[in-house]
Amino acid sequence: MSATAATTTEAQQHTGMPVPQHVAIIMDGNGRWAQRRGLPRAAGHQAGSRVVRPIVETCAQRGVQALTLYSFSSENWSRPADEVAAIMLLLQEHLRNELPMMLANGIRFRRLGRREGMPAEALHMLDETERATAHGRGMHLVLALNYGARAEITDAVRDIANKVRQGELDPAAITEATISDHLGTAGLPDPDLLIRTAGQWRVSNFLLWQISYAEMHVTETLWPDFNLQDLDRAFRDFAGRQRTFGGLKAK
Ligand code: IPE
Ligand code: IPE
Ligand code: MG
Repeated sequence: MSATAATTTEAQQHTGMPVPQHVAIIMDGNGRWAQRRGLPRAAGHQAGSRVVRPIVETCAQRGVQALTLYSFSSENWSRPADEVAAIMLLLQEHLRNELPMMLANGIRFRRLGRREGMPAEALHMLDETERATAHGRGMHLVLALNYGARAEITDAVRDIANKVRQGELDPAAITEATISDHLGTAGLPDPDLLIRTAGQWRVSNFLLWQISYAEMHVTETLWPDFNLQDLDRAFRDFAGRQRTFGGLKAK
């Protein structure tokens, strides 16, 4: 048993609460955080990137199997070029700085989103990080970058159609699992807890297929201010939910 797994069991015994298997976070509010301080938006992204490490480590220690972070959407390219460039640079800096933490925690890193459109250097570092952490036995850390759920589903449909055309797949044999297996999140459990910071009650094209039955937790806290207490609050909120999946409440 790895050190991480041992800590996990202790943590679960300690709290006695059900822990979500897959936590997905829409990390929103960096811009507002900066604006409130009279700083450029890039400063908000920098502050936001500093929050990631404690959240990742704590989720891993609590026994979360997968953590997916919405870092840059396919729609975010419409922002000013200097903001986009700052985010891409921060990403590379972040990957470099956080590799030791990932290795120490046995974290398995995965990029989610279309490759096309991503800067070559960023892609290279993402690929290297995936490779370097591939043998981990701990939590999956998924970074959604240049990600849009509709694009992801479109790509999956195209892949499936190609397999049908080549005679590898019988249309009658297509199931929900076939679709899940063709998404970027293949092999991971569906998110059971979706957290959005900065107060907006919307999904913004994130994991549309996968969040069918996720419990949602929206907090007013802006992402750069999100701390372990906020994470605890989200976990407690999740633990208190009656999950019925279309059935009836247990008596
Ligand atoms: C989220 O923060 C980070 C990205 C979308 C890259 P925002 O930059 O959207 O922050 P707000 O919503 O403008 O405050
Ligand atoms: C969602 O936030 C995307 C990320 C957090 C990366 P946005 O700020 O881009 O979404 P909207 O504009 O509020 O829908
Ligand atoms: Mg936003």
